[in-house]
Amino acid sequence: MTIPTTMQAVAITRPGGPEVLARQDWQTPPCGDDEVLIRVAAAGVNGPDLAQRRGHYDPPPGASPLPGLEVSGEIVVTGAAVSGWAIGDRVMALVNGGGYADYVAVAAGQVLPVPDGWTLTQAAALPETWFTVTQTLVMRAGLVPGMTVLVHGAAGGIGGAAIQIATILGARAIGVISSAAKADYARRLGAFATIDYTTEDVAARALELTDGRGVDRVLDIIGGDMAEKNITASARGGHIVQVSTLDGASANLSLRAIMAKQLTLSGSTLRPQTPATKAAIAARIRTDLLPALASPGFVKPTITTFDIDHAADAHRAMEARTHLGKIVLVTEYDVGH
Ligand SMILES: NC(=O)c1ccc[n+]([C@@H]2O[C@H](COP(=O)([O-])OP(=O)(O)OC[C@H]3O[C@@H](n4cnc5c(N)ncnc54)[C@H](OP(=O)(O)O)[C@@H]3O)[C@@H](O)[C@H]2O)c1
Repeated sequence: MTIPTTMQAVAITRPGGPEVLARQDWQTPPCGDDEVLIRVAAAGVNGPDLAQRRGHYDPPPGASPLPGLEVSGEIVVTGAAVSGWAIGDRVMALVNGGGYADYVAVAAGQVLPVPDGWTLTQAAALPETWFTVTQTLVMRAGLVPGMTVLVHGAAGGIGGAAIQIATILGARAIGVISSAAKADYARRLGAFATIDYTTEDVAARALELTDGRGVDRVLDIIGGDMAEKNITASARGGHIVQVSTLDGASANLSLRAIMAKQLTLSGSTLRPQTPATKAAIAARIRTDLLPALASPGFVKPTITTFDIDHAADAHRAMEARTHLGKIVLVTEYDVGH
């Protein structure tokens, strides 16, 4: 296959609303020795893309300035030092930016096979959220079978991944949602209970659902006033994982309660992690989660697709907060395969 020297990509022309996204001609990225070049079929849309577009989440040094942190597609070039991947392999990958494009180059360690039974569009919805949750909730917070996890944003990308990963690993998830439709979706993904934060006291209900013991782990993207509720809802020895602060980056916390309950509060952002860390997360997903993803009957996340020419509409849809699961941009290549 001849790789064109230029390609189409969606760029952020200046910080702002969805209208600042524009299709442009860009150089096709070179493929480094330890990288593969992927012809992008589909690219997932994630919260960090919106933050980057608004000018609040700059790419780390050396990363593509183009948005897009996850893709699926076909490998079209393999770097000289790459083993285990071949031209023509159908893959999904966590990329360091540049996913909203015809081609993206990525370290081979961040690539995973498309799970059996998944289309390229469906696979594009996995890497960013599954890497984030695997790193934070599983590898750092040590999720083990039998634990109960309180999952905020349960019907969104991160929350949905957290419910499914917890369920695969034998833990029990409680999903925090804002509507009956989102509650139904969270339960379909595996949550054993849901809490509607618009009508219920999240901490009191979490305690009730755990017979007063509290939850072992919390996956939080809300922050602000929710931080105190997470502490109240936690069991002794609990661990609260902070991966976003959608309702406020500052919080008033009872440090005494953190001490008394022997809690851990940790936070992380995925994009600036080293290639070695991302490869270690990929390896964990491959061994512990991929077999379940490929099993018959696994409930795939609900996906709303947009043609990549309409990336701005995809961002508007994400900001409307009405979607279930994930939003994915599809390219011409996806339509043809
Ligand atoms: N740390 C990391 O490495 C990392 C990685 C990926 C994503 N993130 C962050 O995680 C967050 C969630 O990403 P996502 O892809 O899961 O987004 P998403 O698909 O839009 O899901 C967010 C969910 O949270 C709920 N929510 C509650 N309060 C909200 C608020 N104030 N603003 C927006 N949504 C709110 C939404 O439903 P309701 O509004 O109906 O409640 C929605 O279901 C984003 O901020 C993203 O930047 C962090």
